[in-house]
Amino acid sequence: MTNVLLIGNGAREHAIAEAVMRSGRNPRIYSFMKTNNPGIGSLSEKVFIGRYDAPEAAVAFARDCGADFAIVGPEDPLSHGFVDALLTAGIPAVGPTRNLARLETSKSFTRNLLDKYGIPGNPKFRNFTSVAGIEAFFAELTGIVLKPDGLTGGKGVLVQGDHFQTREEALDHCSTILKSHPGVTVEEKLEGEEFSLQCLCDGRTVVATPPVQDHKRRFIDDRGPNTGGMGSYSCPDHLLPFLGADAVAEGLEITRKVAGAICRETGIPYKGVMYGGFMITRSGVKLIEYNARFGDPEAMNILPLLRTDFIDVCRAIIDGSLERLDIVFEKKATVCKYVVPRGYGLSQNDPEAASASSRIEIGDARGARLYYSSIDQRPDGLYMTSSRAIGVVGIADGLEEAERIAEGAVSAIRGPVDHRPDIGTGPLIRKRIDHMRTIKKNPSS
Ligand code: AMP
Ligand code: GLY
Repeated sequence: MTNVLLIGNGAREHAIAEAVMRSGRNPRIYSFMKTNNPGIGSLSEKVFIGRYDAPEAAVAFARDCGADFAIVGPEDPLSHGFVDALLTAGIPAVGPTRNLARLETSKSFTRNLLDKYGIPGNPKFRNFTSVAGIEAFFAELTGIVLKPDGLTGGKGVLVQGDHFQTREEALDHCSTILKSHPGVTVEEKLEGEEFSLQCLCDGRTVVATPPVQDHKRRFIDDRGPNTGGMGSYSCPDHLLPFLGADAVAEGLEITRKVAGAICRETGIPYKGVMYGGFMITRSGVKLIEYNARFGDPEAMNILPLLRTDFIDVCRAIIDGSLERLDIVFEKKATVCKYVVPRGYGLSQNDPEAASASSRIEIGDARGARLYYSSIDQRPDGLYMTSSRAIGVVGIADGLEEAERIAEGAVSAIRGPVDHRPDIGTGPLIRKRIDHMRTIKKNPSS
């Protein structure tokens, strides 16, 4: 029997729970969630509803359940020291301590770490704790990106051309950010295509999982506001249509060096997921950011393909024996589409925002996998809350078929919902390939 404490309540954790339950090690899941996720609940032996800023409750629950180890899904509990508290209580965890989770929670920490240890991948950047000198630095950049220091729920980054136009506006934004955050990182705006490389790390060995491309924009054709991610895809060759093996190797090499550097810097080995958000540019692979966890939606692309026993993977991360484990992913294509309330990502004033708390009916999944996110089970059925509702994943030998499977299941879901029909389709993928070709051809871009 293996008792696993799972912390988190999103579709990412639903996919983690499913991977745990496929294990041949007699798994039992005990779930610590902020709000009840009926998908995770149905796979769990026991559920505890608690807060992600109260690690003591998780420790008490873990003891109560006789947890052998914990898996921490989201960034919030990592940043509130859940892993620290569990380790103190003698419960190992897949997930970094608070200090190590700075890789995600502090943009300045990560940029400085790469700089200090001579690791490639940083754009030109500088960290500021006051506005002094910011204007002069703007003059050194061709495009500006502003990143508040601290967790921002994936929505705090401001990019010139998207969120502001002029340097004056950028300076105003910096003043505002510095009122509520300890610092702001100002960096060069990069041009290219983004990819997510989720790597497993036991403190010494780093293993890459297949690269995935996420779609942050709310609407078709990458229009509208940034969201937590509207969907994602991965390819059977474990590359991406615009991304070769050399670029994936570059991302992995950066991550290996970062794993070494963070251990030297803090004296603590990083055990968990190092998810690099990279961009392939004219001048190679650049680091946009690290996350200290699996991606959401990206976990839904890679975990269903994992053929190695997931509990063995978790134990190897904890024991530091990843080097000896053969980690195998099926050579299949995956397309994930998030079904969201129509009002998702819109401003509160938008009349569509009212559709948030509505009932939905899930029809025939038609061969797709469904991972619940912000879904509430009430006596009369399933209700959406205000956030992303269900991750729908199609898996097949090729992208076209995987996309068709995902669309089929999405179209069977009834209610005031929306999704991005373009994710994983030929035209959007060709656009990505053409974008990369233009960038590589044109030295000024
Ligand atoms: P984050 O909140 O760090 O995930 O950033 C949100 C988005 O901002 C990323 O997915 C990128 O699209 C964009 N971004 C962040 N840093 C840069 C950069 N240096 N150059 C261009 N885009 C960036
Ligand atoms: N897919 C974006 C994230 O997980 O942060």
